[in-house]
Amino acid sequence: MKVIRTLTEYNQWHSTTDANAEIGFVPTMGALHQGHLSLIRQSTKENYLTVCSIYINPTQFDKKEDLIKYPKALKKDIALLKTTNCDVLFVPDDRQMYPEGEDLTRYEFDFSQIDTLLEGKHRIGHFRGVGIVVSKLFEMLKPTKAYLGEKDYQQLQIVKRLAVAMKLNLSVIGSLTTRESDGLAMSSRNLRLNQNERTEATFIYQMLQKAKEKYSKGETIATIQFSIIDKFNKHPSFKLDYFEIVHEETFLASGNKSNWRCFVAAFIGPVRLIDNMPLIA
Ligand code: PAJ
Repeated sequence: MKVIRTLTEYNQWHSTTDANAEIGFVPTMGALHQGHLSLIRQSTKENYLTVCSIYINPTQFDKKEDLIKYPKALKKDIALLKTTNCDVLFVPDDRQMYPEGEDLTRYEFDFSQIDTLLEGKHRIGHFRGVGIVVSKLFEMLKPTKAYLGEKDYQQLQIVKRLAVAMKLNLSVIGSLTTRESDGLAMSSRNLRLNQNERTEATFIYQMLQKAKEKYSKGETIATIQFSIIDKFNKHPSFKLDYFEIVHEETFLASGNKSNWRCFVAAFIGPVRLIDNMPLIA
């Protein structure tokens, strides 16, 4: 696997590849885990070449503290990537990604309001930052397919819309969430949980399962939502940001019933975790 740090170097590598070779791309912020690796593996299966990027993108963090505390593990990440068939790891620095004085407005897109709901409502400016960095990476790396996790379902939908808005010849593919054996969705943020918090964190998964079970028994969306929110509020270790059941493409509480999905964001101690699950799998 080639580790590339600059766009010039990437373009050199790219010019040596077959012009028709499919390039699968997996954007990440590092501190890689099996969830990230499942996206890489899917890409290596479906494409001739696979490129992964690691860049902790400052414009998508609404809290400076989160950016500072974001786990960094480049050596370990490289070792993990070498266990896959990833061809290139792109690790740009801030100067590569955000040259001084650059006008970022051309990387801002209309996401038809979905960027203002759920995560967008609770993390102001988050999706603007994701949109900027992902569109820049698409432009730089010229992939033919991009793989994003359903773990960040709203982000996946944002990136799908972005690829359409950019008129790129690029398919954005969603990959299923990889979970720990107790159901907790794998996340780089899990590294910040202490042992107790880690044990309790599975409650999020249990609540998603509970919602699904209630739905299958015929309970209404409103009743399910009310009862799950109540359970979170009564749990001594959690502070709920939101638990919402909405349509999985519009993120509104209306529409085709077969596409309901629950979305949750909750703090356990100082760590904010998110997860989601379709009501019918
Ligand atoms: P990051 O949190 O590192 O995630 C990179 C990719 O891995 C995302 O598409 C995310 O949805 C996926 N992922 C994370 N945990 C997963 C899991 N348990 N199972 C399956 N996929 C999982 O998301 C970002 O980085 C950034 O916002 C980024 C898109 C790179 C832009 O900066």
